[in-house]
Amino acid sequence: TAGLDTKRIGQQVIAHDEVVSTQPLAQEAAARGAKEGTLVLAELQTGGKGRLGRPWHSPKGTGIWMSLIIRPAIPLPKTPQMTLLTAVSVARTIREETGLPVKIKWPNDIFIGDKKVCGILTELNAESDRVNYLVIGIGINANSVEEDFPQDLAKIATSLRIESGQSLKRASFIQQFCRFFEEEYDYYLENGFGRVKQEWEAHSYTIGRWVNVQTISQRLEGRAIALDDEGVLMVEDQAGVVHKVYSADVNYRAN
Ligand code: BTN
Repeated sequence: TAGLDTKRIGQQVIAHDEVVSTQPLAQEAAARGAKEGTLVLAELQTGGKGRLGRPWHSPKGTGIWMSLIIRPAIPLPKTPQMTLLTAVSVARTIREETGLPVKIKWPNDIFIGDKKVCGILTELNAESDRVNYLVIGIGINANSVEEDFPQDLAKIATSLRIESGQSLKRASFIQQFCRFFEEEYDYYLENGFGRVKQEWEAHSYTIGRWVNVQTISQRLEGRAIALDDEGVLMVEDQAGVVHKVYSADVNYRAN
């Protein structure tokens, strides 16, 4: 990231060739005191981690596999907003670097059409009520071609290259992401969640759709209507009752 004109995001980079996962490496670096904005990158992950304990397919050279360390001075309940902020920043970077029409699927998947191009996994380290750091893992299918995806993934995943027909310059993409993230993040720290919420809703795949929600404690069907001011998804069921969905697997069906 030589010449990157940010204050802190991406100013320190730890780049690896092959790792199990950039997430634990970033956690260790953070625990040792790595600065806010430190980015851990890898060409290949042999044990890439997805949400809900799923694996994340991370073959060599075709993706952007990175973990970002941030240390926001915010209360614990607001930390999920950082994932939404990241999604907004990735979506903006994809739009501006490729012109592709991306949508954000709640809480943190980036879609092109009906296929996933990016996933985000946020891990929190906190002591009592204080946030120590967050490690935000971002996986972007950048230059994969169809044959790079195992059969089960080919139906649900795509890459920027497949969609745009052009190979992506990963280094300049990452720099642009760092700029956008820092801008969103600084604004957020000064002014709160309003702008992220607005941008998230404007590019949402989820708002307005019928969804099936399966949380640990509830099963629910209804229409996703908005984010609340905290970033929690609001789902209105058939009886008109509005439910708040904090973290769950959301499935979609045709309207
Ligand atoms: C998901 O959609 O389930 C989240 C996927 C997150 C993948 C990224 S790739 C970089 C970082 N390292 C990991 O092992 N996972 C995240």
